[in-house]
Amino acid sequence: MKIYKINDKRAFMPLLLLGDEQESMIEKYIDRSEIFVLDDCGIKGEITVCNNGGGVLEIKNIAVYPQFQKRGYGKALINFVAEKFKNDFSELLAGTGDSPLTLPFYEKCGFVKVHTVKNFFTENYTAPIIEGGVVLKDMVYLKKSL
Ligand SMILES: CC(C)(COP(=O)(O)OP(=O)(O)OC[C@H]1O[C@@H](n2cnc3c(N)ncnc32)[C@H](O)[C@@H]1OP(=O)(O)O)[C@@H](O)C(=O)NCCC(=O)NCCS
Repeated sequence: MKIYKINDKRAFMPLLLLGDEQESMIEKYIDRSEIFVLDDCGIKGEITVCNNGGGVLEIKNIAVYPQFQKRGYGKALINFVAEKFKNDFSELLAGTGDSPLTLPFYEKCGFVKVHTVKNFFTENYTAPIIEGGVVLKDMVYLKKSL
């Protein structure tokens, strides 16, 4: 298994859209982010991170292809960036929907909830986003110390 940075970021748009359903929202951060892909006999997933300043590295997008989920790839991507950036950043931040599919994942990876941005999804996305049977409304931010 290898994890490496890619340069042709838009070539991975189908994978990025698994983690963030609206391309116009991805366009807001793609150029100022670094994207790493996990290759295990083929690309299985990606993680997109952005320097927020003040020692904070934000995960803007993380996705594993559906048929390869729940095999540890998502956690491996989090552990990779935590290790790679631990000397340059003090905190890893992640924002996600109040969803039964993603919150337990981040908590299993050592993140704790810090704050919520009310109505983020309903105000910024043109179509409702439904995850695990829940319509996403608020953005929940979680952090992990590095
Ligand atoms: C969220 C996502 C990246 C997780 O990747 P993954 O490879 O399936 O996760 P892992 O297999 O590494 O799981 C790590 C841990 O979280 C747990 N976990 C993962 N998904 C979970 C879920 N839906 N419910 C409960 N626990 C979950 C795993 O059981 C595992 O626990 P363990 O460490 O005790 O074994 C993946 O499900 C995905 O791509 N989802 C679609 C895109 C998305 O929603 N991205 C997040 C946007 S913020």
